[in-house]
Amino acid sequence: MEKVFVETETKKIQPKILYYGTPVILLTTLNEDGTVNISPLSSSWALGNYIILGLGVGGKAFENVKRHPECVINIPGPNLWKNVESLAPYTGKYPVPEEKRIHGFTYNPEKYETSKLTAVESETVQPTRILECPIQIEAKVNAVRVPDYSEDFSIVETEAIHVHAHENMIIEENHINPDKWSPLIYNFRHYYGLGEKLGVTFRA
Ligand SMILES: Cc1cc2nc3c(=O)[nH]c(=O)nc-3n(C[C@H](O)[C@H](O)[C@H](O)COP(=O)(O)O)c2cc1C
Repeated sequence: MEKVFVETETKKIQPKILYYGTPVILLTTLNEDGTVNISPLSSSWALGNYIILGLGVGGKAFENVKRHPECVINIPGPNLWKNVESLAPYTGKYPVPEEKRIHGFTYNPEKYETSKLTAVESETVQPTRILECPIQIEAKVNAVRVPDYSEDFSIVETEAIHVHAHENMIIEENHINPDKWSPLIYNFRHYYGLGEKLGVTFRA
């Protein structure tokens, strides 16, 4: 391996957001009337069977997971970016919180219809799965924490119960084929797919 040379200067900046490129997820949660809400998110990470989500406290998803501690983490591919974006200006929360209203959000309880996505019954949890998403993870919510250093966001700890994957991406029964799967990446508020494969880690 050769040394990499940096051909630019580095400067200190103050960006408004730190969305440095993470996969989009469509989180489905149960509304109080038994219908299902869909929330586009990009703040998540997985370690073992645990998936941690960053949820704004002003959204419907936060309200829903506190009342009903189940969700489905649906992971769209790049082909669904317009479906995701169609949900972006909406919240399932009524009345719309002032903080969202001033940013142009309006109330929309019909997120499946708006996004033209299809609901499929889950095996164990009540929120539905999204058919078009190649990976759908049924999960229980183990904890919802609002840190005392920031009251605007919550850290939601989930635990995967079942993982469903489109059959054409599965190899050897229980593996996702990384040559077939690509997440949709939210890169400083722009949508991207993955570029070409660069290599493989020693444990693959
Ligand atoms: C691609 C994308 C990624 C987003 N990522 C997050 C996120 O990680 N956490 C969050 O709280 N809101 C995120 N948002 C904003 C939520 O979608 C927004 O708060 C919306 O109101 C959630 O819907 P709900 O209020 O019906 O739950 C994201 C929006 C988009 C379009």
